[in-house]
Order: sequence, then structure tokens, then C-alpha cells
Amino acid sequence: MKILAIETSCDETAASVVENSKGAFEILSNAISSQEKVHAKYGGIVPEVAARLHVEKILPIIESALKTAKCNWKKIDYIAVTAGPGLVSSLMIGVETAKALAYAFNKPLLKVNHIEGHLISALTTYHSPLTFPAVALVVSGGHTQIILVKDYLKYKLIGETRDDAAGEAFDKAAKILGLGYPGGPAISREADKVKGKSSKLKVKLPRPMIKSNDFDMSFSGLKTAVLYAWRDTKKKSDEARAEMAREFQQAVIDVLISKTIKAAKEYNAKTLILGGGVAANSALRDALTDSAKKESLELLIPDIKLTGDNAAMIGMAAYYHIKNKNFTEPFNLRADPQWELV
Ligand code: KG4
Ligand code: ZN
Repeated sequence: MKILAIETSCDETAASVVENSKGAFEILSNAISSQEKVHAKYGGIVPEVAARLHVEKILPIIESALKTAKCNWKKIDYIAVTAGPGLVSSLMIGVETAKALAYAFNKPLLKVNHIEGHLISALTTYHSPLTFPAVALVVSGGHTQIILVKDYLKYKLIGETRDDAAGEAFDKAAKILGLGYPGGPAISREADKVKGKSSKLKVKLPRPMIKSNDFDMSFSGLKTAVLYAWRDTKKKSDEARAEMAREFQQAVIDVLISKTIKAAKEYNAKTLILGGGVAANSALRDALTDSAKKESLELLIPDIKLTGDNAAMIGMAAYYHIKNKNFTEPFNLRADPQWELV
């Protein structure tokens, strides 16, 4: 079974051909055109610009995905597309393109939730059936959620950020420290410069809500704490900046891991799943690997290439919907920018 998947929820135009035989995924192509450099000039994503670039890139990216996968339309069995959440003007380009293609080539169409894609992105490297229940930590630029996965496609939201998403906090902290956009990779690079070194700065940022009796989180106060701590840092040297980045990153990681492990224990989970753009963060990956080992939990971490927005994860999520025959009529499908997975 071959699935052509399309993803345009934010600032990546992406298409992929994913195959599944006997339950194991093979990503035959994963084409991505990133608009990162264009938006970096503005310090953040400009929706109108993003939409225009999606219009320009969508067909060449789909062609490129088909070519790399050595596929033509005859060989494609299904078309899947991200229908939300995301920027409405960006989502619309992918959705309308998928509708037109499904109609023209008479292929069954599936809508996929972007967060579900991130949640499932770790499953490529994992060929045996999952052991449920699992607890998933999805950390992206727009979402930070802890989701109980009871079975394939059976989710329950057990915790989320009450304000900023973790990725958003990385982006804002990077801006405060003058590190540019996107902030996640920039903070991570800075933190690595002083990795393992003792601290001269002696700044301790808060770990918001780490002791709260639930699985919710909050990152907006942490951003403000960075703002004041950096303002009050007298010698704003390169080393001080790197130390501040490391302390901020560690504060976010401490909260994410503490809440995720607490949720795994509470729900008696056997498996931990990580996904989303922030899952590219190597300190987070290492810390979660250590914690999972300590708690004897199986950990699924996506390949770095599948942490940021991509269409392969949408194709993989679509596979489970195909098994459930969750098809969509092309003329009924609309982009749904607020679509909550759970
Ligand atoms: O999942 P994603 O690509 O897009 C959304 O669905 O939002 O996530 C983007 C977020 C951005 O906030 C970016 O700064 C963050 O992921 N990110 C990282 C890293 N790479 C990307 N955050 C921390 N460390 C990284 N290495
Ligand atoms: Zn995303």
C-alpha cells in the first residue's frame, strides 16, 4: 500500500510517499521545502508570505516526492493531507491540492491531524506492535501535550501547557538572548558550547509547575524569568549567553521529563513516545533516554529528520486511518486551523 502525503500546516511545504507492508513502514521519499530563511528576516512566520510560498512550491514538491519514490499516480493507492491544526492560509494550500488530486485521479482521501502525525513519527524505526498503554510527549512550536495512547488512534489528553508551547518558549528565549530565529536549534547550539562545564553565572531559573499535582505545564513565566535574568546580567559575554541558554533549556527539559514520567507511572504505561519539533533537541533526547531506562520504559524517539514538520509522519498516521476506513469525501474537506486531536 502506497500513500502520498501532503503537509503545509506552517512554513514547510512537504510531500512524501510512504509504504506499509505487513505493518512495517518504509519512507520512499520525504521532500521538504523549508521557508525558514525567508521568515528569519522577520523574526517569525508571516502567514501571507507562507501561503504564497506554499502555492509556488506545492506541485514541484509533490512531483519530487513521486520521482524520488520512483512512483507515478497509478502506483499511489491513497492521498493523505494535514487538515489542522495550523495556520489556516497555509493549511488551505495543502488541503485544496489534495482534494483536487484525489478527485482527478480518483484516489481515496484522508485527513490527518498534524499533532497525530508528530505523535506517530517515532514509529518508523519500530516494527513490532506497540505495547499499550503508552504516554506520548508532543512538543512543537504550537503545542506541548502529554497524551495517553490507549491503542492505535485511541487518545486521551492528560496534560498540556496552560500558556506558551515549549517550542514557542525556545523561540522567545532565543530572541531575548539575541540568538535569532528559529530559537530552538540556536539555544541548543549555545547550550552545547558550555556543556558539562561548571557555571560561573550562578543563575537558577524556575521550573514552573514542576510540583503541581497534575500533568499541566506553563512556560510563559520562564520566558519572563530569562528576560529579567539576562537584563540583570552585568557582563553579557558569549559565555554568559551560552550559560543562560543552557539553564533555560535545562529548566524546560526538567519540567517536560518530570511531568511525562509522572504520567507514565500514574497510567501504568509500558511505552514512552516523543514527537514534535522540540524532539530534535539532543539534551531532551538524552535526558528522556536516561529517565526511560531508569523507569524500565520502552522509549520511541523519532529519527531527527522526522522531528520537524514533514509529510512522512502524515502518511504514517494515515495508514492507521486507512485500516479504520476513515475516508473523507473531497468536496466535504475543509482546513480546520483549530482542530484538536483530543
Ligand atoms: O513541530 P514543529 O516543526 O512545528 C510546529 O508544529 O510547531 O516545531 C517547531 C518548533 C520551533 O519552536 C523550534 O524552535 C523548535 O520546534 N525546535 C527546537 C529544536 N529544533 C526545533 N527546540 C529545541 N531544540 C531544538 N533542537
Ligand atoms: Zn509541527
